[in-house]
Amino acid sequence: MQHVISVSNLSKTYASGFQALRNVNLEIRRGEIFALLGPNGAGKTTLISIICGIVNPSEGVVLADGHDIITEYRAARSRIGLVPQELTTDAFETVWATVSFSRGLFGKPANPGHIEKVLRDLSLWDKKDSKIMTLSGGMKRRVLIAKALSHEPQILFLDEPTAGVDVELRRDMWGVVRALRETGVTIILTTHYIEEAEQMADRIGVISKGEIILVEEKAELMRKLGRKQLTLQLQSPLDHVPAELAAYRLELAAEGSELVYSYDTQGERTGITALLKDLNAAGIRFKDLQTKQSSLEEIFVSLVRERR
Ligand SMILES: Nc1ncnc2c1ncn2[C@@H]1O[C@H](COP(=O)(O)OP(=O)(O)OP(=O)(O)O)[C@@H](O)[C@H]1O
Ligand SMILES: [Mg+2]
Repeated sequence: MQHVISVSNLSKTYASGFQALRNVNLEIRRGEIFALLGPNGAGKTTLISIICGIVNPSEGVVLADGHDIITEYRAARSRIGLVPQELTTDAFETVWATVSFSRGLFGKPANPGHIEKVLRDLSLWDKKDSKIMTLSGGMKRRVLIAKALSHEPQILFLDEPTAGVDVELRRDMWGVVRALRETGVTIILTTHYIEEAEQMADRIGVISKGEIILVEEKAELMRKLGRKQLTLQLQSPLDHVPAELAAYRLELAAEGSELVYSYDTQGERTGITALLKDLNAAGIRFKDLQTKQSSLEEIFVSLVRERR
């Protein structure tokens, strides 16, 4: 199967001499939602900008739907919609005009039916005659998505689509993105909200200091790197973990009233049975217990920290 986006040996050094991308290799599968995670300045926007033809690569090759983004720029670009990180809209235009105009920029013939569908799908239809400056921030963001979809792209890049958007609207946006995927559009999004990646992505890529440090199925990532924690609520608080339990690397929490045991879900043995036996032998009684799977956020933080 041909990948919808294929990035090979891509590097970028800005004119300032700063190297923002180092030998990036990445393939995006047709129809997937791919989330690119990384701290501020990791190179996410740079990577997207190169794929969309806004920034020139220093080295490497990028194909969009099989078309080289440099030698076949128009063919490549026409397949791509981009919702940029920075909000930029023409304040005095109406929603309808600005979205229709975007389509024209790609040399596509007018298609009011398509524009209407996009505006309806994004719940902007009743605002079609409103000037952009009269819209709320969330509506403006949806206008940007409408513009990006105006020319019927197969690939949609969303650079921080929900930055500064409230929780409710964020959930609405997730619905919009999922619905788009249902129509066959491939979606690549960057986000700082790990929950967003956890909720939406089929695969996750992590970029740090210009290097892709990991690409993995989300479910696999959570299974492989995910650790579980067993928390025991003690009947009486401890001021230290007894020496005979040192091997379990227990942590005391909640002012000594909880013992936390971390274990690997992949391990052959979790060690829980032995732990409970040894706790009993040490005379430590507990009144309740819970287990918790580490979140993608914890996985991400520890991954990026390892690279520092
Ligand atoms: N035009 C430019 N000239 C020089 N350096 C740049 C330029 N654009 C970006 N950079 C640098 O490249 C690095 C990567 O920036 P980029 O915008 O790609 O990061 P990002 O991962 O999108 O970050 P954020 O999460 O903050 O959006 C940063 O150190 C940035 O300062
Ligand atoms: Mg960015």
